[in-house]
Order: sequence, then structure tokens, then C-alpha cells
Amino acid sequence: MAKISVCPWWLGYFLINPLRRFLHNPAEIIAPYIKEGMTVVEPGPGMGFFTLELANKVGPSGHVIAIDIQPKMIASLKQRAERSHLMERIDIRLALPESMGLVKLAGTVDFIFTFAVVHELPDINSFFLEAAKALKPNALLLLVEPTGHVNADQFSAELVIASQHGLEVIDTPAIRRSHSALLKKHHNPVS
Ligand SMILES: C[S@@+](CC[C@H](N)C(=O)[O-])C[C@H]1O[C@@H](n2cnc3c(N)ncnc32)[C@H](O)[C@@H]1O
Repeated sequence: MAKISVCPWWLGYFLINPLRRFLHNPAEIIAPYIKEGMTVVEPGPGMGFFTLELANKVGPSGHVIAIDIQPKMIASLKQRAERSHLMERIDIRLALPESMGLVKLAGTVDFIFTFAVVHELPDINSFFLEAAKALKPNALLLLVEPTGHVNADQFSAELVIASQHGLEVIDTPAIRRSHSALLKKHHNPVS
């Protein structure tokens, strides 16, 4: 894997630019997977380009747990969620460097949405271990990585690690300038 570097907080403002919708339309990308009432986890939401749309889609009976490592990303996400009157549906958490605390969610999560974040994590193995534990049986995880930062071999290596925790590829949706895979939790992870 390449050297890990975390997206600087100020880049968060570029990632929420409305023009990005021409490249990555949040509503279109999440539409096939998110239904009302779901519990969705979004690791590394940044300032929430996808988070607000996830919260719209889960509706008043669902919720989105958004977990980022950078307080400035979280502060901006919170402000945007408040302005959109969606705070009641969004649980914003600060990650610890070594863990997002997903294990505590054991078997309660319907969907995990990871967009342009897994390659920034210090320990991809423990991320997929935690993610698999958090998901309900047969629940899905969408893994999307930018082709500009992650090459095909690195993406394949991420998929191998995911499969070691019972997350198997069931689809490869087309998302511009991205590698993507829809993973399904097939069985309880052994570790
Ligand atoms: C490239 S940004 C992508 C933001 C968002 N997913 C999007 O596509 O607009 C990556 C995000 O992951 C967060 N991140 C990096 N390492 C993390 C970690 N260990 N735990 C939680 N979030 C992390 C960064 O702070 C940043 O907000």
C-alpha cells in the first residue's frame, strides 16, 4: 500500500462544492441501497457531501452515524446538518486514531458507505474487521476509492482484506473516476 495521508481539512470545502454533483451525484449513487428506517454508517464523511443525502433517504425513522477523525470536518458537517434540519437523523462522532468504534454497533447496521476514505485509514484490516462486526447478516457495504489515489492493485488488495472478514463482492457499480465494489456480509467473521 502507498504511504497513508489524511485528506487535509481545508480540502473538505472543495469536496462539498455543488459542482461535484456533475461527477458524483449523491442521490443517484446511494439510491439503489438506502431505504427509509435504515441505520447507515458513513466512515470519513468529511464535511458531508454524501451525509445530508443519506439522512434525507433514511427518513425520520432512520439514522446516519458519521464518523470522522478531523474535528474541523465534523464541525462543518454539524453546521450543514443543522442548517438542513437533519441533525436529529445524524449522529456525528469523532474517530480515535486506532478505531472508529464500530464494534460497539455489533450487528445493528444496515449499510456502510465508504467513499474515498479506506485508503486513508491506518489499519485497513481492523477497519474491515470492525465493519463486518457492525453489519447485520446479509447487509451491504459500498466501497468506493478514487482512481487518482488508489491503483487497481491497491483496490484489489483492499477487497482481499474485506473478503477475509466475510465481505464478498456482489457487484461493481460504475462510479466516475472511481474503483467501486458492493460487498455483502455473508457470514459472521471468525476473528
Ligand atoms: C478524501 S476525504 C472524503 C470525504 C467524503 N467521504 C467525500 O467523499 O466527500 C476522506 C475523509 O476521511 C477522513 N478520515 C481519514 N482517516 C480517518 C480515520 N482514521 N477515521 C475516520 N475518518 C478518517 C478524513 O478526515 C476525511 O474527512
